[in-house]
Amino acid sequence: MNRRNLLKTVAAASLTPLPNLVRSTGTDILMKEIPGTGEYMPVIGMGTFKVFEIGDDIALRDQHTEVMRTFFNMGGGMVDTSPMYTVAEDVIGYALNKIGKPEGLISSSKVWNTTSDNSRAQFDKSLQSWDLDIFDVFMVHNVDVWNLHHEAVKSYKEGGEIRYLGISTSHGREAAKLEYLMKTQPLDFVQLTYNILDREIEDRLLPLAQERGIAIIANRPFQGGELFKHTANQPLPAWSSEIDCSNWAQILLKYVISHPEVTCAIPGTSKIAHMIENMGALTGVLPGTGMRATMRKHFDSLV
Ligand SMILES: NC(=O)c1ccc[n+]([C@@H]2O[C@H](COP(=O)([O-])OP(=O)(O)OC[C@H]3O[C@@H](n4cnc5c(N)ncnc54)[C@H](OP(=O)(O)O)[C@@H]3O)[C@@H](O)[C@H]2O)c1
Repeated sequence: MNRRNLLKTVAAASLTPLPNLVRSTGTDILMKEIPGTGEYMPVIGMGTFKVFEIGDDIALRDQHTEVMRTFFNMGGGMVDTSPMYTVAEDVIGYALNKIGKPEGLISSSKVWNTTSDNSRAQFDKSLQSWDLDIFDVFMVHNVDVWNLHHEAVKSYKEGGEIRYLGISTSHGREAAKLEYLMKTQPLDFVQLTYNILDREIEDRLLPLAQERGIAIIANRPFQGGELFKHTANQPLPAWSSEIDCSNWAQILLKYVISHPEVTCAIPGTSKIAHMIENMGALTGVLPGTGMRATMRKHFDSLV
């Protein structure tokens, strides 16, 4: 069975109120539809900013290979990176070579901070680092260089060298321009920051994504790790068992992925133990509207 088919092997009926959410047959992994495609992807991916920027030390690369192996063994899909993250693409390539290109891999990279003349060379270098022929998702990183690269990225999609095109930003930067691009450009994916404290995109950008049929990748779901400062020494709330969470990481991730318009979250980690915690959010009950309000209120009280 090829990867595309695997992604489609999902239970027909949704067990939650979210119409775009299904559970994979057998494993119960939560998957959401890439809008309008009938293709489903696991709601937890993995990021590589900082955590995979580890130089060329082979022992470290082997450790990170095991972090990635854990991710795929637990049902992970999207691996997100960018040429901005120094050697992260090479570390991914190293790990994929050792693991053997899992069927469930959804590759996601970007073009970053280069001239339009050099756009193609950067794309080719990224493919070479990963040892891939095509990317599943390829984004312009960030909003401010969209004009430099959108023609090249659109031509990659037309030529079958990428499956989905998008744009990526973070920290709420250039929200007005992003909104304009979401209204006017043929975007399949938008990556932006969303977590239980950074909720601005709930007002305008997420409803717009729904209107335009754009998949959303939520970066910084732990606010770069800062959210754990608020949860340190805090007991888990009594309601956490109602949504099948046994640690704070899972609570934070389930808040993000339970928003109807979020397709997946991409937490970054350098540790197997943290990867196991994070991937625990890929199964079980997702909070509904009432529980999400409870979660927000509880977290706001910790800050
Ligand atoms: N397009 C953009 O402009 C942009 C910007 C930012 C990020 N991104 C993408 O989004 C991804 C995620 O964002 P991020 O990495 O900046 O932030 P994040 O995922 O919110 O937080 C990562 C931090 O959380 C820690 N962590 C992870 N799991 C944990 C757990 N279970 N318990 C305690 N600590 C845990 C990690 O440290 P440990 O290593 O110790 O686990 C790391 O320091 C990035 O890796 C990148 O791929 C894109």
